[in-house]
Amino acid sequence: MRILFFGDIVGEAGRKAISLALPSLKEKYKPDFVIANAENATHGKGLSYAHYNYLIQAGCDCLTLGNHWRSKASIDDYIDDASDLVRPLNVKGDAKGKGSVSFDVGGIEVRVTNLLGTMLMRDQEDSPFERFNDLLGKTKPCIHIVDFHAETTSEKAMFAHMFDGSVSVIVGTHTHVQTNDAKILENGTAFISDLGMCGDPDGVIGFEKNSVINHMVFGEKTHFELNPKARKMINAAVIDVDDMTYSAKSITAINFILEDK
Ligand SMILES: [Fe+2]
Ligand SMILES: [Fe+2]
Repeated sequence: MRILFFGDIVGEAGRKAISLALPSLKEKYKPDFVIANAENATHGKGLSYAHYNYLIQAGCDCLTLGNHWRSKASIDDYIDDASDLVRPLNVKGDAKGKGSVSFDVGGIEVRVTNLLGTMLMRDQEDSPFERFNDLLGKTKPCIHIVDFHAETTSEKAMFAHMFDGSVSVIVGTHTHVQTNDAKILENGTAFISDLGMCGDPDGVIGFEKNSVINHMVFGEKTHFELNPKARKMINAAVIDVDDMTYSAKSITAINFILEDK
């Protein structure tokens, strides 16, 4: 089983990067299953129904989310019917949608789970360690892919080592910066601290640099903006998993900027 997993899609540059790059990436890598983190796909925060459809039609088989999963409240209207959309499992209380979803990929079960970290995160959710342990107790072994959406590399590494051998793949998302540590852990789980981002490579984590500086440094009451003329970057990883043992065989990070056309 070959999996192609894209880091956080940020705004229009990210959405277009996916739709422009995915046909040639499918040709080159021949993935069996394509996943993307879409928590920032709509204007940098949240996921509208239109953009959910756009990314599925562009060729994604599954979309994961993160701390911005409900930044567009309209997600409540469609998430229960979106069987390929996975929101964080460990949100507090009752929530619409699912935090772990099982897919049939050519007769092989692939499960995708989304979790939120707690270190340096504004919203304090349930412990991802406890909630994930509970989930493992209720699900049968399969190719299990975890998107651990968190701020710190240390929390991601702790999680990965704790569940090494229990799942096939653990990728970090949320920081929008790809880390250079893709590897297979001791007990066969593929891991990278952060997949990075699909979007504008020239701003601050996908947003136009001056709008972020003016807001964060000079306290201007303005919003982060997206650059409509942004270049388009792809950050992702290609992961091969053994269909029989569910152990990962390889993980390779991908990072490139699309040529202007
Ligand atoms: Fe993000
Ligand atoms: Fe995030």
